[in-house]
Amino acid sequence: VREAARSFEAGRADLQAKPAVDLPNLSLSVGDPTLFGNLPVDERVVAAVQEQLLSQKSNGYPPSTGYPAACEAIAKRHSLPSHQLSKSDVIITSGCSGALAIAIPTLADPGDNVLIPRPGFSLYEVICSNSGIEARFYRLDGDRQWEADLADLERQIDGRTRAIIVNNPSNPCGSNYSAQHLAEIAAVAARHRLPIIADEIYGGIVFAPAKFVPLAAVAPDLPIVSVGGLAKQFLCPGWRLGWIVLYDRHGRLARVRSGMVSMSQVILGANSLVQAALPQIFATVPSAYFEKLSATLAEQGRYFSDAISKIRGFRAIEPQGAMYLLIRIDTAAFRDVPNDVSFCQMLLAEQNVSVLPGKVFGAPNHFRVVVCAPRSVMEAVIARIAAFATRHAAA
Ligand SMILES: Cc1ncc(COP(=O)(O)O)c(C=O)c1O
Repeated sequence: VREAARSFEAGRADLQAKPAVDLPNLSLSVGDPTLFGNLPVDERVVAAVQEQLLSQKSNGYPPSTGYPAACEAIAKRHSLPSHQLSKSDVIITSGCSGALAIAIPTLADPGDNVLIPRPGFSLYEVICSNSGIEARFYRLDGDRQWEADLADLERQIDGRTRAIIVNNPSNPCGSNYSAQHLAEIAAVAARHRLPIIADEIYGGIVFAPAKFVPLAAVAPDLPIVSVGGLAKQFLCPGWRLGWIVLYDRHGRLARVRSGMVSMSQVILGANSLVQAALPQIFATVPSAYFEKLSATLAEQGRYFSDAISKIRGFRAIEPQGAMYLLIRIDTAAFRDVPNDVSFCQMLLAEQNVSVLPGKVFGAPNHFRVVVCAPRSVMEAVIARIAAFATRHAAA
């Protein structure tokens, strides 16, 4: 647990090395879109929360599963033509982390295993280890836009497997799966009668022409536990509002559902003001907002991807969604950079640039950048990485 938690912490804080240069720190390491001030919370979202605050009506404990009106709003928003949801299909949680912390240990007991994407978000492993559940990794293929290696996925399944986690769009890969690939993953799950935990927190952030497809849309008969939240799409991670949505039209998750309700009682529910504001947030923020946010991140992601790939020793995989880019490091292109951890430490020490080593996500010899920073910051980071690459280039 300690090891997994340590790598997770590395995602929250910058690496420990002390910069030896007198340059201002430039950090593309933390997945918090608020850090640069260039992506403010939409004024309609602020107004909805402000209204709740001023009303003095939402200061008490909400039900542990969430205010019914907020659950209803989430159910409506996530209903699909093939699957109409009701408020009882929704549990509101303290962030999407809270949703995962309920969903994973409800589906699996100590000694069971859950399949986790690699590279993937480190919290999955932390939650598993913390509950005595084996985190078993399946491979995503960097040469195929980080699609799941289906044979590897299926190979990992045994009699103690209780769920497959799919994170789409992905942190840290910046990938977005096609409907066809999602259906292929769902087919593996269906063959083994396994539910999928679909982490869709980046669902609204997809770079055109790619389109986001909810997993439940391609697998209407498969039990799917979709988790999400406001943090990324609405640019307010500190508000700690997430949810679990159960797509289970054949009632196969009946016991899981009541287990999740019991688990939600452990912390007496999520932030009252923000969940009370949810119906208004969803009603007033138009789809144009998501198109604009996605276009901004796409523009920044593509700039970084193109610019870094022009520097010898680096190759980015074209981003398709979320807020990240995973960049491959060709260590042979450098004299004295043996791996991704050394690269990140040396870059911090020499150029005062913070990025995260792929090791944190199970992607050795890669590093991750967050593409939320304004263009001027990204350009400065590229210039410093270029200077680093020249200084350490192999003969
Ligand atoms: C893939 C993924 N899932 C879940 C979370 C947690 O989200 P929250 O801040 O709502 O707890 C994150 C946060 O970075 C994430 O990247």
